[in-house]
Amino acid sequence: MKRIFSGIQPTGNLHLGNYLGAVKNWVKLQSTYECIYCIVDMHAITTFQDPKKLTQNIRDAAAILIASGININSSILFNQSRVPMHAELAWIFNCIAKIGWLNRMTQFKDKAGKNREKASAGLYIYPNLMAADILSYKATHVPVGDDQKQHLELTRDIAISFNDSYGIKYFPVVEPLIIGEATRVMSLRDGSKKMSKSDNSDFTRINITDSKDVIASKIKKAKTDSLPVPESITALSGRLEAKNLLGIFAALKEVSLEKIIKDYGGGTFSVLKEDLAECIISELVPVSSEIKNLQNNREYLDKILKDGATKAEEISKPIIKEVKEIVGFLVA
Ligand code: TYM
Repeated sequence: MKRIFSGIQPTGNLHLGNYLGAVKNWVKLQSTYECIYCIVDMHAITTFQDPKKLTQNIRDAAAILIASGININSSILFNQSRVPMHAELAWIFNCIAKIGWLNRMTQFKDKAGKNREKASAGLYIYPNLMAADILSYKATHVPVGDDQKQHLELTRDIAISFNDSYGIKYFPVVEPLIIGEATRVMSLRDGSKKMSKSDNSDFTRINITDSKDVIASKIKKAKTDSLPVPESITALSGRLEAKNLLGIFAALKEVSLEKIIKDYGGGTFSVLKEDLAECIISELVPVSSEIKNLQNNREYLDKILKDGATKAEEISKPIIKEVKEIVGFLVA
């Protein structure tokens, strides 16, 4: 059986990178897979979050996901901290994953930066919790953006190591689903940096909730170079900003990069930018207005997350019971 699991951090400013690298694909996959989508609030607190803002961000993330097309009747949507199995399995995985594996994680190095000694222990072992999120449901496929690839390799290593240590083929070895032409959306101001929630400048990203005018002005001001739009895939080499805009456009239109290059190659960036802005606006502005409707209905959002957690727990509870038995804990 194929089962999808994926997660998103409720840390505010969900952006076009999250949308194209993850959410848009999550929506599409619902027609072919059983899907479990999680707002990972326990991951969020690996760096300090203001409690009131965190609560708000969890509800906002739920509103964004539902407004984008997550179908709460066919998929499960919940916030991580409501289902205790994630933390329980994470502990077991803390005892499986090797320190050497964690030391290789580039995201920890990026996030901890020079202040490594002051980073939380949670930030360091975060990939083990991510493996636990996925394997609490024995999920087989995980749709993510390119930046999560290394974490999913660790999830595979943990599953294999657990199975080998206990001599049982228990956990599936998950397949990452890194889909489309915008698996790594870059900053609008610097094509070598990932578009990110935490960048100080709001002009580096398109937020899912940006207004029509804000989107138009951010795309207009997006960095490009002085040459015409590249005319072939090979001509993209070294032209990071052009590549980023073309990739975003292709992903939004659900066509290949080649097709967008065929349509715009050799032309001016101003024409490309005008059409791109219009395309982003027509995709995101209807989502934004639905988000606002949902945000006015707090009780509805809270009930969806609570009901989702009940369904998630029904799946993960027997799995974690079996895992405890495999490990030798006394559960009877
Ligand atoms: P997070 O919250 O940073 O991002 C959520 C999803 O958005 C994708 N993404 C991007 N895709 C393309 N371009 C970008 N600039 C960009 N920025 C973010 C991410 O790849 C991700 O798919 N650790 C995860 C959350 C998580 C998770 C999980 C994911 C926790 N448990 C289990 C999958 C399975 C994270 O911090 O994602």
